[in-house]
Amino acid sequence: MIKILVIHGPNLNLLGEREPEVYGRLTLAEIDKRLADLAKALGIEIQTKQSNCEGAIINAIQEARTWAGGLIINPGAYTHYSLAIRDALSAVRLPAVEVHLSNVFAREEFRHRSVIAPVCVGSVCGFGWRSYELALNGLLEHIHSHPDAK
Ligand code: DQA
Repeated sequence: MIKILVIHGPNLNLLGEREPEVYGRLTLAEIDKRLADLAKALGIEIQTKQSNCEGAIINAIQEARTWAGGLIINPGAYTHYSLAIRDALSAVRLPAVEVHLSNVFAREEFRHRSVIAPVCVGSVCGFGWRSYELALNGLLEHIHSHPDAK
């Protein structure tokens, strides 16, 4: 069975109350429930993890190489500057998709740059919680069309 790790980065534990006009009104628990339902319907297994700490995110990425077939990551603000998370993703060589709830390109200029995107197979942003759903479908397509990749 395909197993996917979904990582939510800093401040995403506050979804629902954090700038709902930007990030929507769903809580992280509600998003995770929707992802779990989708995973069940797709016949795959997902684990979700949220952390506000760069090191914990890096540890989760490293551990995923022992059990996961791919990763979905919303690195939050780390997107824009964490070379350590980028290096972890390139080190594990798992297919990863970068996700953002908001359309980062329609926001402040500092959000236009992602140091994570170049080590991902693709990125999805701007569709609210559905960015995760689109990312999961895209990642599965990628995994099915690259059966021998690691
Ligand atoms: C975000 C966009 C980032 O720029 C921001 O720092 C976040 C959330 C998003 O999901 O839209 O924390 O990753």
